[in-house]
Amino acid sequence: MAIEFAERVRRIPSYPVASGYDLGTDVAMLASNESPFGPVPEVFEAVQRAVLGANRYPDPSYTPLRRALADRYGVPPELIALGNGSCDILLAVGEALLEPGAEVVYAWPAFSEYPHLAAASGARAIEVPLDSGERHDLDAIAAEITVATRLVLICNPNNPTSTSHSLERIAAFLEQVPSHACVILDEAYCEFSLQLGDPYASVELLRRHPNLVLLRTFSKVYGLAALRVGYALCGDAAFRQAVDVVRQPFHLNVAAQAAAVEALAHQDEVERRVTDTLAARLGLEREVRELGLWVAESDANFIWIRLPQEADEATVMTGLRERGVLVRAGASLGREGALRVTVGTTEDNRRFVTALAEAI
Ligand SMILES: Cc1ncc(COP(=O)(O)O)c(C=O)c1O
Repeated sequence: MAIEFAERVRRIPSYPVASGYDLGTDVAMLASNESPFGPVPEVFEAVQRAVLGANRYPDPSYTPLRRALADRYGVPPELIALGNGSCDILLAVGEALLEPGAEVVYAWPAFSEYPHLAAASGARAIEVPLDSGERHDLDAIAAEITVATRLVLICNPNNPTSTSHSLERIAAFLEQVPSHACVILDEAYCEFSLQLGDPYASVELLRRHPNLVLLRTFSKVYGLAALRVGYALCGDAAFRQAVDVVRQPFHLNVAAQAAAVEALAHQDEVERRVTDTLAARLGLEREVRELGLWVAESDANFIWIRLPQEADEATVMTGLRERGVLVRAGASLGREGALRVTVGTTEDNRRFVTALAEAI
């Protein structure tokens, strides 16, 4: 007799993980929207100090990180949830809010993990197509909200299409959402967003909307993707309590916690990375457009390219891979005929453009 699995296991889509880890080190890794910059030396040192105490379980209330985030954003510590990456918090949201009969509304294509939430919980997923500029259609999303809606996911800037809405537009949308529906504003890339202005801007919205949660990560601009740290700034302490109750008690390890606290103290480095990344992105966008390809209006550290009608996405991906360039295929992200490309080092970006010109 074979093992029997829960029915939901068959429903849950597999996360489209990046490939190419087998290709060695001479590869342009432009597939996961990570930072090309490693952690600053002080972060290494903080991690080393932290692991000296690795025989003890971590502080389950994660006080230093919670306090550092509270100081930075002016949000009380009890309104801050932490997670083993922001994905950890996202999955906990699904568990805490969704069940059969409930509805979750989100734009599509958006972050690949969103479909997991409905599949795992038995809730109904309502996927709202992006507009012609590959942006969230906020009016269409608002029109889908009903008494059954428990959760609305807004990815701003949107992964995979890189587009965003201004803070004013998001604020106007929030006015349309009834207070029983929780809105997760997934701001994994907010530090890069010129539409948002700065990562403090949306925090103000929490005071007006107790049903709002800002979901953020240390995996992108802070360069800590492998350590796994995410956080949520919540409009209501009940949200944080709910996502903590459904998870294991020690969901953030000591190294991750120490690294995040230290990384937060280096905002000058964050600013430098943002400036460098945005300058490199402009160059990358220009060169790709010069190849005659359509590129979405990016507000993040990655770009979204539509391939020409006659190009076969799988063939282009193989061509790029053969030239040592890894990007993400649109088909794996919900839209065939497109590529999502992370802004990397100058050398990686150049390698990508050369490879793309040959591969299409
Ligand atoms: C929009 C968005 N949200 C959340 C995440 C999850 O990030 P992490 O779990 O590394 O914090 C990602 C990762 O790519 C993302 O693009």
